Amino acid sequence: MKQHLWIGGQWKEARSYTELRSPHTGELLAEVGQADEADVEDAIAAAQAAGSVMRSLPAHERARILEKAASLMEQRAEELARLLANEASKPLKAGRAEIGRTVQTYKFAAEEAKRIHGETVPVDAAPGGEGRLAFTVRRPIGVVGAITPFNFPFNLVAHKVGPAIAAGNTIVLKPAGQTPLSALALAGILHEAGLPAGALNVIPGKGSVVGEKLVRDSRIAAITFTGSPEVGIAMKNKAGLKRVTLELGSNAAVIIDDTVEITQALIDRCVLGAFSYNGQVCISIQRIYVHESRYEEFSRRFVEATEKLVVGDPLEETTDISALIAEKEVERMASWVDAAVSEGAIVLTGGRAVSTAVFPPTVLANAAETSSVSCQEVFGPVVTLSSFTDVSEAIAAVNRSRYGLQAGIYSSNIHTAMRAAEELEVGGVIINDIPTFRVDNMPYGGVKESGFGREGIKYAVEELTELKFISIKL
Ligand code: SIN
Repeated sequence: MKQHLWIGGQWKEARSYTELRSPHTGELLAEVGQADEADVEDAIAAAQAAGSVMRSLPAHERARILEKAASLMEQRAEELARLLANEASKPLKAGRAEIGRTVQTYKFAAEEAKRIHGETVPVDAAPGGEGRLAFTVRRPIGVVGAITPFNFPFNLVAHKVGPAIAAGNTIVLKPAGQTPLSALALAGILHEAGLPAGALNVIPGKGSVVGEKLVRDSRIAAITFTGSPEVGIAMKNKAGLKRVTLELGSNAAVIIDDTVEITQALIDRCVLGAFSYNGQVCISIQRIYVHESRYEEFSRRFVEATEKLVVGDPLEETTDISALIAEKEVERMASWVDAAVSEGAIVLTGGRAVSTAVFPPTVLANAAETSSVSCQEVFGPVVTLSSFTDVSEAIAAVNRSRYGLQAGIYSSNIHTAMRAAEELEVGGVIINDIPTFRVDNMPYGGVKESGFGREGIKYAVEELTELKFISIKL
Protein backbone atom coordinates (compact mmCIF):
# COMPACT_ATOMS: atom_id res chain seq x y z
CA MET A 1 0.00 0.00 0.00
CA LYS A 2 1.29 3.47 -0.91
CA GLN A 3 1.11 6.19 1.74
CA HIS A 4 1.17 9.66 0.23
CA LEU A 5 2.01 12.98 1.85
CA TRP A 6 -0.70 15.00 3.60
CA ILE A 7 -0.55 18.60 2.38
CA GLY A 8 -3.24 21.29 2.32
CA GLY A 9 -5.97 18.94 3.54
CA GLN A 10 -5.44 16.25 0.91
CA TRP A 11 -3.21 13.35 -0.06
CA LYS A 12 -0.44 14.30 -2.43
CA GLU A 13 1.68 11.82 -4.37
CA ALA A 14 5.39 12.02 -3.64
CA ARG A 15 8.11 11.73 -6.26
CA SER A 16 9.78 8.94 -4.30
CA TYR A 17 8.69 6.26 -1.82
CA THR A 18 10.61 4.09 0.63
CA GLU A 19 9.67 0.72 2.04
CA LEU A 20 8.55 0.67 5.67
CA ARG A 21 9.08 -2.71 7.32
CA SER A 22 8.05 -4.08 10.72
CA PRO A 23 11.09 -4.07 13.05
CA HIS A 24 9.84 -7.38 14.49
CA THR A 25 9.02 -9.46 11.40
CA GLY A 26 10.60 -7.51 8.57
CA GLU A 27 7.21 -7.64 6.81
CA LEU A 28 6.50 -4.82 4.35
CA LEU A 29 3.97 -2.47 5.98
CA ALA A 30 3.75 0.31 3.39
CA GLU A 31 5.60 2.33 0.83
CA VAL A 32 5.86 5.77 2.33
CA GLY A 33 6.16 8.99 0.30
CA GLN A 34 9.32 10.95 1.00
CA ALA A 35 8.93 14.71 0.78
CA ASP A 36 11.47 16.54 -1.36
CA GLU A 37 12.24 20.27 -1.24
CA ALA A 38 9.28 21.14 -3.46
CA ASP A 39 6.91 19.20 -1.17
CA VAL A 40 8.28 20.96 1.90
CA GLU A 41 7.73 24.24 0.09
CA ASP A 42 4.11 23.25 -0.66
CA ALA A 43 3.53 22.19 2.95
CA ILE A 44 4.89 25.46 4.34
CA ALA A 45 2.84 27.46 1.83
CA ALA A 46 -0.30 25.49 2.77
CA ALA A 47 0.35 26.06 6.47
CA GLN A 48 0.89 29.75 5.87
CA ALA A 49 -2.25 30.06 3.79
CA ALA A 50 -4.29 28.36 6.54
CA GLY A 51 -2.90 30.80 9.12
CA SER A 52 -5.67 33.40 8.82
CA VAL A 53 -8.41 30.74 9.10
CA MET A 54 -6.81 29.28 12.22
CA ARG A 55 -6.21 32.69 13.81
CA SER A 56 -9.85 33.56 13.38
CA LEU A 57 -11.26 30.29 14.75
CA PRO A 58 -12.75 31.03 18.17
CA ALA A 59 -11.40 29.15 21.16
CA HIS A 60 -14.55 27.06 21.53
CA GLU A 61 -14.20 25.87 17.94
CA ARG A 62 -10.53 24.93 18.34
CA ALA A 63 -11.52 23.09 21.52
CA ARG A 64 -14.36 21.30 19.71
CA ILE A 65 -12.00 20.03 16.99
CA LEU A 66 -9.52 18.73 19.57
CA GLU A 67 -12.31 17.08 21.62
CA LYS A 68 -13.67 15.42 18.50
CA ALA A 69 -10.21 14.16 17.53
CA ALA A 70 -9.82 12.68 21.04
CA SER A 71 -13.12 10.89 20.77
CA LEU A 72 -12.38 9.54 17.26
CA MET A 73 -9.09 8.17 18.59
CA GLU A 74 -10.87 6.59 21.53
CA GLN A 75 -13.26 4.82 19.14
CA ARG A 76 -10.31 3.50 17.09
CA ALA A 77 -8.04 2.79 20.08
CA GLU A 78 -7.46 -0.91 19.41
CA GLU A 79 -6.70 -0.39 15.70
CA LEU A 80 -4.24 2.40 16.56
CA ALA A 81 -2.50 0.30 19.26
CA ARG A 82 -2.02 -2.43 16.64
CA LEU A 83 -0.58 0.12 14.26
CA LEU A 84 2.00 0.96 16.96
CA ALA A 85 2.79 -2.72 17.42
CA ASN A 86 3.39 -3.08 13.69
CA GLU A 87 5.39 0.03 12.88
CA ALA A 88 7.18 0.65 16.20
CA SER A 89 7.24 -2.91 17.57
CA LYS A 90 5.58 -1.50 20.67
CA PRO A 91 3.99 -4.31 22.72
CA LEU A 92 0.19 -4.09 22.72
CA LYS A 93 0.02 -3.39 26.46
CA ALA A 94 2.27 -0.36 26.05
CA GLY A 95 0.57 0.67 22.80
CA ARG A 96 -2.87 0.69 24.43
CA ALA A 97 -1.47 2.78 27.28
CA GLU A 98 -0.03 5.23 24.76
CA ILE A 99 -3.34 5.61 22.92
CA GLY A 100 -5.11 6.20 26.27
CA ARG A 101 -2.61 8.94 27.07
CA THR A 102 -2.90 10.46 23.60
CA VAL A 103 -6.67 10.76 23.99
CA GLN A 104 -6.06 12.59 27.27
CA THR A 105 -3.44 14.82 25.71
CA TYR A 106 -5.90 16.02 23.06
CA LYS A 107 -8.54 16.51 25.77
CA PHE A 108 -6.09 18.60 27.80
CA ALA A 109 -5.34 20.59 24.64
CA ALA A 110 -9.07 21.16 24.10
CA GLU A 111 -9.41 22.47 27.66
CA GLU A 112 -6.31 24.63 27.38
CA ALA A 113 -7.59 26.22 24.15
CA LYS A 114 -10.31 27.82 26.29
CA ARG A 115 -8.02 29.42 28.83
CA ILE A 116 -5.27 31.13 26.87
CA HIS A 117 -5.15 34.57 28.38
CA GLY A 118 -2.89 37.41 29.42
CA GLU A 119 -2.92 39.60 32.53
CA THR A 120 -3.27 43.22 33.48
CA VAL A 121 -0.01 45.05 34.08
CA PRO A 122 0.09 47.75 36.80
CA VAL A 123 2.15 50.18 34.73
CA ASP A 124 1.51 52.97 37.22
CA ALA A 125 4.07 51.22 39.44
CA ALA A 126 6.63 53.26 37.51
CA PRO A 127 6.58 57.08 37.35
CA GLY A 128 5.21 58.01 33.93
CA GLY A 129 2.91 54.97 33.83
CA GLU A 130 -0.06 56.75 35.40
CA GLY A 131 -3.37 57.09 33.63
CA ARG A 132 -3.18 53.94 31.55
CA LEU A 133 -4.90 50.59 31.44
CA ALA A 134 -2.36 47.97 30.33
CA PHE A 135 -2.65 44.28 29.70
CA THR A 136 -1.18 41.37 27.76
CA VAL A 137 -2.78 38.95 25.33
CA ARG A 138 -1.39 35.73 23.85
CA ARG A 139 -1.52 35.45 20.07
CA PRO A 140 -0.72 32.45 17.82
CA ILE A 141 2.94 32.36 16.87
CA GLY A 142 2.26 31.25 13.26
CA VAL A 143 3.57 28.20 11.42
CA VAL A 144 5.07 25.58 13.74
CA GLY A 145 7.62 23.06 12.45
CA ALA A 146 7.27 19.86 14.50
CA ILE A 147 9.85 17.09 14.29
CA THR A 148 8.95 13.98 16.27
CA PRO A 149 10.64 10.74 17.38
CA PHE A 150 9.67 7.08 16.91
CA ASN A 151 9.17 6.11 20.53
CA PHE A 152 5.71 7.62 21.18
CA PRO A 153 4.46 8.12 17.62
CA PHE A 154 1.00 9.23 18.75
CA ASN A 155 1.54 10.91 22.10
CA LEU A 156 4.71 12.89 21.37
CA VAL A 157 3.05 14.11 18.16
CA ALA A 158 0.02 15.06 20.29
CA HIS A 159 2.28 17.09 22.59
CA LYS A 160 3.24 19.26 19.61
CA VAL A 161 0.13 19.24 17.43
CA GLY A 162 -2.36 19.55 20.36
CA PRO A 163 -1.00 22.79 21.87
CA ALA A 164 -0.23 24.25 18.43
CA ILE A 165 -3.89 23.88 17.41
CA ALA A 166 -5.12 24.98 20.84
CA ALA A 167 -3.18 28.21 20.34
CA GLY A 168 -4.50 28.79 16.79
CA ASN A 169 -1.30 27.93 14.92
CA THR A 170 -0.72 25.83 11.83
CA ILE A 171 1.77 22.98 11.63
CA VAL A 172 4.16 21.21 9.31
CA LEU A 173 4.97 17.86 10.91
CA LYS A 174 7.92 15.67 10.00
CA PRO A 175 7.38 12.33 11.78
CA ALA A 176 10.20 9.88 12.51
CA GLY A 177 11.25 7.75 9.56
CA GLN A 178 10.25 4.48 11.25
CA THR A 179 6.80 5.68 12.42
CA PRO A 180 5.12 7.79 9.74
CA LEU A 181 1.92 5.73 9.58
CA SER A 182 0.62 6.90 12.94
CA ALA A 183 1.21 10.57 12.06
CA LEU A 184 -0.55 10.08 8.71
CA ALA A 185 -3.45 8.34 10.52
CA LEU A 186 -3.66 11.36 12.82
CA ALA A 187 -3.92 13.68 9.81
CA GLY A 188 -7.05 11.77 8.73
CA ILE A 189 -8.49 11.90 12.24
CA LEU A 190 -8.01 15.66 12.62
CA HIS A 191 -9.42 16.23 9.14
CA GLU A 192 -12.51 14.22 10.09
CA ALA A 193 -12.72 16.25 13.31
CA GLY A 194 -13.03 19.42 11.23
CA LEU A 195 -9.52 20.89 11.28
CA PRO A 196 -9.29 23.41 8.39
CA ALA A 197 -7.33 22.30 5.33
CA GLY A 198 -3.65 23.24 5.58
CA ALA A 199 -3.67 23.63 9.37
CA LEU A 200 -1.77 20.33 9.69
CA ASN A 201 0.58 19.03 7.01
CA VAL A 202 2.39 15.71 7.47
CA ILE A 203 5.50 15.18 5.36
CA PRO A 204 7.72 12.19 6.13
CA GLY A 205 11.18 12.48 4.65
CA LYS A 206 14.86 12.81 5.34
CA GLY A 207 16.13 15.06 8.13
CA SER A 208 18.66 16.49 5.71
CA VAL A 209 15.84 17.61 3.39
CA VAL A 210 12.67 18.17 5.41
CA GLY A 211 14.17 18.92 8.82
CA GLU A 212 16.81 21.17 7.32
CA LYS A 213 14.32 23.29 5.38
CA LEU A 214 11.90 23.59 8.30
CA VAL A 215 14.69 24.78 10.56
CA ARG A 216 16.05 27.31 8.07
CA ASP A 217 12.86 28.65 6.45
CA SER A 218 11.96 32.09 7.79
CA ARG A 219 8.19 31.42 7.43
CA ILE A 220 8.43 28.85 10.23
CA ALA A 221 8.01 30.75 13.50
CA ALA A 222 8.78 27.96 15.94
CA ILE A 223 10.48 24.59 15.90
CA THR A 224 9.51 21.94 18.40
CA PHE A 225 11.76 18.91 18.34
CA THR A 226 12.13 15.69 20.32
CA GLY A 227 15.23 13.62 19.59
CA SER A 228 18.94 13.41 20.16
CA PRO A 229 21.07 16.24 21.64
CA GLU A 230 23.36 16.18 18.59
CA VAL A 231 20.50 16.89 16.18
CA GLY A 232 18.77 19.30 18.58
CA ILE A 233 21.86 21.40 19.15
CA ALA A 234 22.56 21.55 15.41
CA MET A 235 18.96 22.70 14.83
CA LYS A 236 19.21 25.38 17.44
CA ASN A 237 22.37 26.71 15.84
CA LYS A 238 20.64 27.00 12.47
CA ALA A 239 17.26 28.27 13.66
CA GLY A 240 18.13 31.96 13.84
CA LEU A 241 15.38 33.93 15.60
CA LYS A 242 12.83 31.10 15.64
CA ARG A 243 11.41 29.97 18.93
CA VAL A 244 12.91 26.53 19.62
CA THR A 245 11.73 23.87 22.07
CA LEU A 246 14.08 20.91 22.45
CA GLU A 247 13.21 17.68 24.27
CA LEU A 248 16.48 15.77 24.10
CA GLY A 249 18.10 12.77 25.68
CA SER A 250 18.73 11.55 29.19
CA ASN A 251 20.36 8.85 31.28
CA ALA A 252 17.75 9.12 34.02
CA ALA A 253 18.54 7.89 37.50
CA VAL A 254 16.71 6.79 40.61
CA ILE A 255 18.10 6.88 44.16
CA ILE A 256 16.83 4.49 46.85
CA ASP A 257 17.97 5.43 50.34
CA ASP A 258 18.25 3.40 53.53
CA THR A 259 14.89 4.54 54.95
CA VAL A 260 13.00 2.66 52.26
CA GLU A 261 11.86 -0.96 52.43
CA ILE A 262 12.44 -3.00 49.32
CA THR A 263 8.85 -3.99 48.57
CA GLN A 264 7.64 -5.88 45.52
CA ALA A 265 5.81 -2.72 44.41
CA LEU A 266 9.09 -0.81 44.38
CA ILE A 267 10.86 -3.57 42.45
CA ASP A 268 8.05 -3.80 39.90
CA ARG A 269 8.02 -0.06 39.42
CA CYS A 270 11.81 0.00 38.81
CA VAL A 271 11.54 -2.88 36.32
CA LEU A 272 8.78 -1.02 34.49
CA GLY A 273 10.81 2.20 34.49
CA ALA A 274 13.90 0.47 33.15
CA PHE A 275 12.40 -1.82 30.53
CA SER A 276 9.05 -0.45 29.40
CA TYR A 277 9.11 -0.33 25.58
CA ASN A 278 12.64 -1.80 25.73
CA GLY A 279 13.93 1.29 27.54
CA GLN A 280 13.31 3.38 24.40
CA VAL A 281 11.89 6.21 26.51
CA CYS A 282 13.69 9.47 27.34
CA ILE A 283 12.93 9.09 31.06
CA SER A 284 13.67 5.37 31.16
CA ILE A 285 15.68 4.41 34.24
CA GLN A 286 19.27 3.91 33.15
CA ARG A 287 21.08 4.27 36.49
CA ILE A 288 19.92 2.92 39.85
CA TYR A 289 21.71 4.01 43.04
CA VAL A 290 20.81 1.96 46.14
CA HIS A 291 22.02 2.53 49.70
CA GLU A 292 24.63 -0.10 50.59
CA SER A 293 22.41 -1.51 53.38
CA ARG A 294 19.68 -2.37 50.83
CA TYR A 295 21.84 -3.09 47.77
CA GLU A 296 22.12 -6.90 47.97
CA GLU A 297 18.40 -7.38 48.49
CA PHE A 298 17.45 -4.86 45.81
CA SER A 299 19.79 -6.25 43.19
CA ARG A 300 18.74 -9.90 43.79
CA ARG A 301 15.03 -9.12 43.59
CA PHE A 302 15.41 -6.67 40.69
CA VAL A 303 17.24 -9.28 38.62
CA GLU A 304 14.64 -11.96 39.52
CA ALA A 305 11.80 -9.67 38.39
CA THR A 306 13.66 -8.65 35.23
CA GLU A 307 14.08 -12.28 34.26
CA LYS A 308 10.31 -12.75 34.36
CA LEU A 309 9.74 -10.24 31.55
CA VAL A 310 8.27 -11.90 28.47
CA VAL A 311 10.22 -11.40 25.25
CA GLY A 312 8.17 -11.87 22.08
CA ASP A 313 5.84 -10.65 19.37
CA PRO A 314 4.54 -7.11 20.02
CA LEU A 315 1.08 -8.26 18.92
CA GLU A 316 0.90 -10.89 21.71
CA GLU A 317 -1.03 -9.83 24.82
CA THR A 318 1.66 -11.07 27.21
CA THR A 319 4.73 -9.52 25.55
CA ASP A 320 6.81 -7.05 27.55
CA ILE A 321 9.95 -6.84 25.41
CA SER A 322 10.17 -6.98 21.65
CA ALA A 323 12.35 -5.89 18.74
CA LEU A 324 14.33 -2.69 19.10
CA ILE A 325 13.44 -0.06 16.52
CA ALA A 326 16.33 -1.08 14.22
CA GLU A 327 18.95 -3.82 14.03
CA LYS A 328 21.75 -1.28 14.31
CA GLU A 329 20.46 -0.46 17.81
CA VAL A 330 20.87 -4.12 18.82
CA GLU A 331 24.46 -3.96 17.57
CA ARG A 332 25.02 -0.73 19.52
CA MET A 333 23.61 -2.29 22.74
CA ALA A 334 25.91 -5.30 22.32
CA SER A 335 28.98 -3.18 21.72
CA TRP A 336 28.25 -0.82 24.64
CA VAL A 337 27.68 -3.75 27.01
CA ASP A 338 30.86 -5.51 25.81
CA ALA A 339 32.83 -2.30 26.29
CA ALA A 340 31.38 -1.82 29.79
CA VAL A 341 32.39 -5.38 30.71
CA SER A 342 35.91 -4.81 29.47
CA GLU A 343 35.93 -1.66 31.65
CA GLY A 344 34.95 -3.66 34.76
CA ALA A 345 31.15 -4.11 34.67
CA ILE A 346 29.54 -7.41 35.72
CA VAL A 347 26.51 -8.70 33.81
CA LEU A 348 23.82 -9.79 36.31
CA THR A 349 21.36 -10.79 33.58
CA GLY A 350 21.02 -10.41 29.80
CA GLY A 351 23.97 -8.93 27.97
CA ARG A 352 23.86 -10.87 24.68
CA ALA A 353 21.55 -10.22 21.73
CA VAL A 354 18.69 -12.74 21.47
CA SER A 355 18.46 -12.23 17.69
CA THR A 356 19.37 -9.57 15.16
CA ALA A 357 16.24 -7.68 16.26
CA VAL A 358 16.02 -8.24 20.02
CA PHE A 359 18.34 -7.32 22.88
CA PRO A 360 17.24 -8.75 26.24
CA PRO A 361 16.69 -6.75 29.45
CA THR A 362 20.21 -6.35 30.81
CA VAL A 363 21.34 -5.46 34.32
CA LEU A 364 24.95 -4.45 34.98
CA ALA A 365 26.72 -3.97 38.30
CA ASN A 366 30.00 -2.15 38.85
CA ALA A 367 29.84 -0.21 35.57
CA ALA A 368 32.40 2.57 35.32
CA GLU A 369 30.92 6.05 35.31
CA THR A 370 32.82 6.74 32.10
CA SER A 371 31.43 3.68 30.26
CA SER A 372 28.89 4.53 27.55
CA VAL A 373 26.19 2.52 29.38
CA SER A 374 26.51 5.00 32.26
CA CYS A 375 27.27 8.35 30.72
CA GLN A 376 25.62 8.25 27.28
CA GLU A 377 21.92 7.81 26.63
CA VAL A 378 21.40 4.05 26.18
CA PHE A 379 17.82 4.31 24.87
CA GLY A 380 17.55 0.55 25.18
CA PRO A 381 17.02 -2.21 27.76
CA VAL A 382 20.25 -1.76 29.75
CA VAL A 383 20.40 -0.54 33.35
CA THR A 384 23.30 -0.11 35.79
CA LEU A 385 23.19 -0.72 39.56
CA SER A 386 25.48 1.07 42.02
CA SER A 387 25.59 1.33 45.80
CA PHE A 388 26.26 4.39 47.95
CA THR A 389 27.01 5.12 51.58
CA ASP A 390 25.70 8.66 51.90
CA VAL A 391 22.89 10.16 49.85
CA SER A 392 25.03 13.17 48.96
CA GLU A 393 27.32 10.78 47.01
CA ALA A 394 24.33 9.51 45.05
CA ILE A 395 23.05 13.02 44.28
CA ALA A 396 26.51 14.04 43.10
CA ALA A 397 26.74 10.93 40.90
CA VAL A 398 23.33 11.62 39.34
CA ASN A 399 24.45 15.18 38.61
CA ARG A 400 27.71 14.07 36.95
CA SER A 401 25.84 13.78 33.66
CA ARG A 402 25.53 15.77 30.44
CA TYR A 403 21.79 15.30 30.82
CA GLY A 404 19.15 16.47 33.25
CA LEU A 405 15.60 15.48 32.34
CA GLN A 406 14.01 13.81 35.38
CA ALA A 407 15.31 11.96 38.44
CA GLY A 408 13.56 9.87 41.10
CA ILE A 409 14.33 9.48 44.78
CA TYR A 410 12.77 7.05 47.21
CA SER A 411 13.16 8.21 50.81
CA SER A 412 10.94 8.24 53.89
CA ASN A 413 12.96 11.14 55.22
CA ILE A 414 11.35 14.40 54.14
CA HIS A 415 14.61 16.30 54.66
CA THR A 416 16.53 13.94 52.38
CA ALA A 417 13.79 14.04 49.76
CA MET A 418 13.59 17.83 49.79
CA ARG A 419 17.35 18.17 49.70
CA ALA A 420 17.44 15.94 46.64
CA ALA A 421 14.63 17.99 45.08
CA GLU A 422 16.73 21.09 45.61
CA GLU A 423 20.09 19.69 44.51
CA LEU A 424 19.29 17.36 41.60
CA GLU A 425 20.07 19.16 38.34
CA VAL A 426 17.05 18.07 36.32
CA GLY A 427 13.78 19.43 34.93
CA GLY A 428 11.65 17.27 37.23
CA VAL A 429 12.26 15.49 40.56
CA ILE A 430 9.93 12.63 41.32
CA ILE A 431 9.87 11.83 45.02
CA ASN A 432 8.98 8.30 46.10
CA ASP A 433 8.67 7.12 42.54
CA ILE A 434 10.78 6.44 39.47
CA PRO A 435 11.88 9.18 37.01
CA THR A 436 9.75 7.42 34.39
CA PHE A 437 6.69 9.32 35.57
CA ARG A 438 4.76 11.52 33.21
CA VAL A 439 1.16 12.55 33.03
CA ASP A 440 0.28 14.75 30.14
CA ASN A 441 -0.57 18.05 31.79
CA MET A 442 2.62 18.35 33.85
CA PRO A 443 5.58 20.46 32.72
CA TYR A 444 8.04 18.17 30.98
CA GLY A 445 11.50 19.09 29.81
CA GLY A 446 15.10 19.20 30.84
CA VAL A 447 18.22 21.14 31.65
CA LYS A 448 21.78 20.72 30.35
CA GLU A 449 21.87 18.56 27.21
CA SER A 450 18.34 17.33 27.86
CA GLY A 451 17.17 20.50 26.15
CA PHE A 452 15.06 23.47 27.07
CA GLY A 453 11.52 24.72 26.90
CA ARG A 454 8.69 22.72 28.41
CA GLU A 455 5.93 20.52 27.07
CA GLY A 456 2.72 19.66 28.94
CA ILE A 457 -0.09 21.47 27.16
CA LYS A 458 -0.27 24.70 29.16
CA TYR A 459 3.51 25.13 29.04
CA ALA A 460 3.74 24.25 25.35
CA VAL A 461 1.02 26.82 24.59
CA GLU A 462 3.26 29.43 26.23
CA GLU A 463 6.10 28.36 23.94
CA LEU A 464 3.83 28.51 20.88
CA THR A 465 2.24 31.93 21.45
CA GLU A 466 3.51 35.50 21.30
CA LEU A 467 2.90 37.64 24.33
CA LYS A 468 1.60 41.01 23.16
CA PHE A 469 1.44 44.06 25.41
CA ILE A 470 -1.35 46.61 24.98
CA SER A 471 -1.56 49.95 26.79
CA ILE A 472 -4.51 52.34 26.60
CA LYS A 473 -3.89 55.96 27.64
CA LEU A 474 -7.06 56.96 29.43
C1 SIN B 1 9.84 10.67 26.07
O1 SIN B 1 10.40 9.63 25.72
O2 SIN B 1 10.39 11.78 26.09
C2 SIN B 1 8.39 10.68 26.48
C3 SIN B 1 8.13 9.95 27.71
C4 SIN B 1 6.66 9.92 28.00
O3 SIN B 1 5.89 10.71 27.46
O4 SIN B 1 6.26 9.09 28.82
